[in-house]
Amino acid sequence: MDRIFEPELMVGEDQAHAYAHADFSEPHNNFIKMFQGQYCNREIEGYVLDIGCGPGDIMFRFARAHHKCSIHGIDGSEAMIRYGLKFLEEAGDIRHRVAFIQGVLPEKILPREKYDVIISNSFLHHLHNPQVLWDVVRKYAMPAAPVFIMDLRRPKSIDEACQLTKTYVANEPEVLRKDFYHSLLAAFEVEEIIEQLEITGLRHLSVNIASDRHVIVSGFMK
Ligand SMILES: C[S@@+](CC[C@H](N)C(=O)[O-])C[C@H]1O[C@@H](n2cnc3c(N)ncnc32)[C@H](O)[C@@H]1O
Repeated sequence: MDRIFEPELMVGEDQAHAYAHADFSEPHNNFIKMFQGQYCNREIEGYVLDIGCGPGDIMFRFARAHHKCSIHGIDGSEAMIRYGLKFLEEAGDIRHRVAFIQGVLPEKILPREKYDVIISNSFLHHLHNPQVLWDVVRKYAMPAAPVFIMDLRRPKSIDEACQLTKTYVANEPEVLRKDFYHSLLAAFEVEEIIEQLEITGLRHLSVNIASDRHVIVSGFMK
């Protein structure tokens, strides 16, 4: 099945509101656990970059799990960042270690030249040109930085996409069900991701199927 693009930025107020208020505790805690498993519970210090951070739920969880790091999250959607800043105000303990940056990649220049860790969840499939993500990783990751990028992978057929939507988001509001379905159609296949990494000189990163709908790219930067 060919890829069907979706809009890059999630700028709609309804869309951002639904996304910001959805309960992602299970998948996002899982993201943190898988990161820790991948990197043997190593102590994370310095600066972490979350690419396409949305309203920041993963950044908040990451900051609570790793007390010695600061996290910068970048997102091009003003609505997403607005929700993120609201949640950050209420977040108390981690407030001084999490920062949101609004800007569209690849144009936006980040405040640090390099980051000690790079994470990203559910961002790659939004990009019309996927090399944007890999170029940002290459530009901003410190040598030896752990990289952990999770995304959806494209099903083989529309039927499979419908089935996954039924299985995983049947009880979510319509806007989230539609988002998930369109995201599946916009996602990349594992072979396509491997090709993207080859083009960017990042082929040493591992590409692993993590579930019936997820793929993870991870490893240390050279
Ligand atoms: C599905 S959300 C994922 C949010 C968050 N990572 C999470 O897992 O909850 C993808 C986010 O990427 C942002 N985005 C897409 N393309 C972008 C670009 N070129 N530059 C910056 N942000 C972008 C969207 O605005 C959206 O908020």
